[in-house]
Amino acid sequence: MRFDVLTLFSEIFQGYVGQSLLKRAIQAGLVQVHLHDIRDWSIGKHNTVDDRPYGGGPGMVIKVEPAVDCVEAVRGQDQDPGHLVMLTPQGRRLDQRVVEQLSQHKRILLLCGRYEGFDERIRTILEPEEISIGDYILNGGEVAAMAIIDSVIRLVPGVLGDEDSSVSDSFSSGQRWLECAQYTRPREYRGHEVPAVLLSGNHEEIARWREENSRQRTLERRKDLIEGCHEDLGPHPGSCPLPTIEN
Ligand code: ADE
Repeated sequence: MRFDVLTLFSEIFQGYVGQSLLKRAIQAGLVQVHLHDIRDWSIGKHNTVDDRPYGGGPGMVIKVEPAVDCVEAVRGQDQDPGHLVMLTPQGRRLDQRVVEQLSQHKRILLLCGRYEGFDERIRTILEPEEISIGDYILNGGEVAAMAIIDSVIRLVPGVLGDEDSSVSDSFSSGQRWLECAQYTRPREYRGHEVPAVLLSGNHEEIARWREENSRQRTLERRKDLIEGCHEDLGPHPGSCPLPTIEN
């Protein structure tokens, strides 16, 4: 899987690409991350990449020429032109279903904005998929691009040690339960004990406890995730089928 990040601040990614899971995936040849500085396609002797908005108003807008030139040049670096994603607060909200869809692409180009936004003609000409990571304003798309890379690589076969381990993630394949509570040693800390069932060695009991714990948490914290699944379905595992996300 190949990611091309088009940004004005490629140095933000340097530490991230060197961190454990991504670093290992890159070393194993499963993932490639190519960083491109939009400024390399700047125009004029002042290396301009942004300008004041027509009609007035605060902030600066990313210019159409460097952005379009950069995307077109980067696209041409591989036979697969890739799927172009523009990170903006106006985009489709990222969730696990979107992550799963993105993971179907072999190559993704991530166009990161800064300042007040992009010249609208960048959208008209390039027709990117616009993605937002939430209803808040970041200083730029870089953190959002990292969120996409981070969530998508978990679904690339071989990236997680155990092929199955992303399948049990909360939200995967339509699953909407939050993860259950987890404990590790010591058994007791400042009077807080690990639930006895987890030490029992009884796998059936443990599975039942985990499912119930995960259901409780979801009801308490994110009831919105399980609309259509009722609280009064009883404590037994399986009595409340894992709800799936409707297509
Ligand atoms: N750029 C600024 N805010 C953003 C957001 N919430 N998601 C994606 N890109 C952004």
